[in-house]
Amino acid sequence: MADGGSASTEAPDLDRLLGDLRALEALPEQWDEAAQSGAQALVAAVDALNAEAFRRLIRSLREVPGFGAALREAAADEVVYAVLRRHGILKPSLFERVEAALETVRPMLASHGGDAEVVAVEGDSAEIRFLGACDGCPASQLTFYAGVKKAIQDNVPEITKIKQAKGLGGGGADTVKFTSPFANYKDDEWRRAATLADLQDGETRFVEVDGHSVILSRFGDRISAFKNACAHMGLELTDGDITEAIITCPFHGFRYALESGECLTAPEVQLQPHGVRVKGHNIEVRIVT
Ligand code: FES
Repeated sequence: MADGGSASTEAPDLDRLLGDLRALEALPEQWDEAAQSGAQALVAAVDALNAEAFRRLIRSLREVPGFGAALREAAADEVVYAVLRRHGILKPSLFERVEAALETVRPMLASHGGDAEVVAVEGDSAEIRFLGACDGCPASQLTFYAGVKKAIQDNVPEITKIKQAKGLGGGGADTVKFTSPFANYKDDEWRRAATLADLQDGETRFVEVDGHSVILSRFGDRISAFKNACAHMGLELTDGDITEAIITCPFHGFRYALESGECLTAPEVQLQPHGVRVKGHNIEVRIVT
């Protein structure tokens, strides 16, 4: 674009601009209250003027053929996007809204030493990755369903497919807990599903809990509990072959890791987890519907 003034036509250094802004923003901290108020009023007035100019500009160009596509293309530039967002010309992107939804559950994840990040948002799909203690935790599926997925569904209904991305392997066995941070249910919601003595290390059993068929598996001192329903057509996995902690659906062959519920055949689906905890000698399950 032509530069009608005497300033250099070289693109300004973004890092320098941001650095200057941060330094200027910090300046009023040393000023008295009246000076601070004056500075804030000046910024607000300049912002309001710029916002109005952008609105008028867009109003006058709205009917020009191809304007919408050109604006979207221009907004792909991070500086253009940031300035238009600051002035309310652009709505928050889906990515930002998913990020904001995730922010609502971060304190809960952090209380268990974990975190999550948005890996990708495309169309109606979002991919989320667990970090820290949540990554690799046997309760991560419950955390994903009851916490992360619900927060995104509640706040960004346009996103209908929410997938858990593979972790980075940062979670350690030391931080593993039996229950998800979202499994703080009232005591009367837990049902005894089996005793620890009933379920040997490496064993999988199908048990009935409150009229629900549950797949219960033990891996050392860790227990997993999943709804006995294949993610393909919802049929029971009871007669499926179990080899090396992987169950194969007897109907059409979908394979699932019994420790994580991950589907090895179609990674975008998984077994639905239930809450599970060990209390004394008992394994207790809280049905998640
Ligand atoms: S119902 Fe399990 S693979 Fe089809």
